[in-house]
Amino acid sequence: MAILKIVTTKDGMDTLRKVSRPVTEITPRIHTLLDDMTETMRVAEGCGLAAVQVGVLRRVVVIEVEEGEVYEMINPEIIDRHGRQEEPEGCLSLPGESGITRRPRTVTVRAQNRNGEWYELTGSDLLARAICHELDHLDGKLYTDVVIRDVEE
Ligand code: NI
Repeated sequence: MAILKIVTTKDGMDTLRKVSRPVTEITPRIHTLLDDMTETMRVAEGCGLAAVQVGVLRRVVVIEVEEGEVYEMINPEIIDRHGRQEEPEGCLSLPGESGITRRPRTVTVRAQNRNGEWYELTGSDLLARAICHELDHLDGKLYTDVVIRDVEE
């Protein structure tokens, strides 16, 4: 496994604004990418990472909001959403920053795992925020696009 360089808004805003392409074939390269993304996310102490954040414009995301429980998502889509939450959010591509966003309380995502099998996952609270946040990255969006106010000191 390798620790990859995380693209930030300072050095890579053009990249972060790009729309990522679907994965059409899950090759060993995609498996290596998933492994490296998980390693990179953990070292950076984040709870999610999208491939675009390591400079790969493919629809691939890893999320770990509970230690040891990593969700690998290839070609993910949100298929259901319920409720609302307004909570702090940050991003490894904007180190040291945070803001309050408005997100659904609960979302259901459909994605492929590393074997190409489709699965559904329903998550609430932090997991729902992480899913929304990482999937936004795949469309070139940042959490700062949906910030509604500053985090109160
Ligand atoms: Ni992010």
